[in-house]
Amino acid sequence: MARAKISIIGAGNVGATTAHWCAVMELGDIVLLDVPATDGMPKGKALDLLQALPIVGSDAQIVGTTSYDETENSDVVVITAGLARRPGMSRDDLLATNAKIVTSVTEQVIQRCPHAIIVVLSNPLDAMVQRAYQVSGFPCHRVVGQAGVLDTARYRLFLSMELGVSVEDIRAMLMGGHGDTMVPLPRYTSIGGIPVTELLAKDRLDALIERTRKGGSEIVDLLKTASAYYAPAAAAAQMVAAIVHDKKRLVPCAAYCDKEYGVGGYYVGVPVILGASGVERIIELDLTAEERADFQKSVEAVKSLVKVMGELLGGA
Ligand code: 2OP
Repeated sequence: MARAKISIIGAGNVGATTAHWCAVMELGDIVLLDVPATDGMPKGKALDLLQALPIVGSDAQIVGTTSYDETENSDVVVITAGLARRPGMSRDDLLATNAKIVTSVTEQVIQRCPHAIIVVLSNPLDAMVQRAYQVSGFPCHRVVGQAGVLDTARYRLFLSMELGVSVEDIRAMLMGGHGDTMVPLPRYTSIGGIPVTELLAKDRLDALIERTRKGGSEIVDLLKTASAYYAPAAAAAQMVAAIVHDKKRLVPCAAYCDKEYGVGGYYVGVPVILGASGVERIIELDLTAEERADFQKSVEAVKSLVKVMGELLGGA
C-alpha cells in the first residue's frame, strides 16, 4: 500500500517540529516547505531530521523544499505558515498578516493537492481555518483546525500535575475558540473514569481552567521571541495520525459548524470524529445553560474575528 504523503507548509518551529513528530511516528512521507531568503533552510532541516531516523528506526522520507510542486497529490497538508506571537501580542494582532499568508498558501496547495485534507495551525486559528476553507472551495469536512487537541493536552497536563495522576488517565473535552474564551467542560472531564469534580475542589479546578485558557500566552511570556511549538506540533501529528490511519479519534477540533450548535457557518472548537475523510462527524453535546452561554460567548468572539478579517482583506 502506498504510504501517505504529508506536506507541511512552513518550516519554522511549529512546522519543523510537526515534521519531526510525523517522521518519528512514521505517519508517511513528508514534504517540508518554506519560502525563506535562502532555500537551504527547509532542505537543511529536512536533511537533519532524516539523519535522525536511523537512530529511531523510521523509514519516513523527508524532502525539504521551496517549491510547491513537491507537494503534488499530498493526502494531508498541514499549514503552519505565518508569524508567531510575541509577548504582549494577542493572536488577533496577527490577523491581517497571517490571513494574507494563509490565502496565498491555500491557493498554491489546492492547485496541486485537490484531494487533500487541510489541517490549519496558523494563528489566530479560528479565523485562519475559516480563511483556508473560503479560499480552498473544499467541502468543509476536508478543512480542519488544530486547537482543541493542544488545549486539552494542556488541561490534562495541569490536572495530572495537580492530582499526581498519570496523564494517560485524564480524559477531557473542551469547546469554543482557541483563545481566552475557550470552554473547558468539567462535566466531561474524568480521571480514570471518575468525574473530576469528585477529586478536585471547584476553586482549584477553576484555576487550572484559567491556566489552560492562557496556556499559549504563558509560553510566549517565557520564550519572549517565539510561541509554543512542541505541544502544538504534537497535537498536529496526532490529527495527521487520525487521518492517515483512519483512526476515527474523538477529539476536539476547529470544525465548520452550520446548524450544529446553531453556530451558523463558522469554524469553532467542537468534539468531532476525525478519520480518513477528515471531520467525519460533529458530536452535538447537550450543554447546560451555563456551558451553552460560555460557548456562545466564544462563538461571538470567533465571529467578530472573522468579520475583522473580512474587512482587513477588503471583503475578499
Ligand atoms: C498556542 O496556544 C501558539 O496558539 C498557540 O500556544
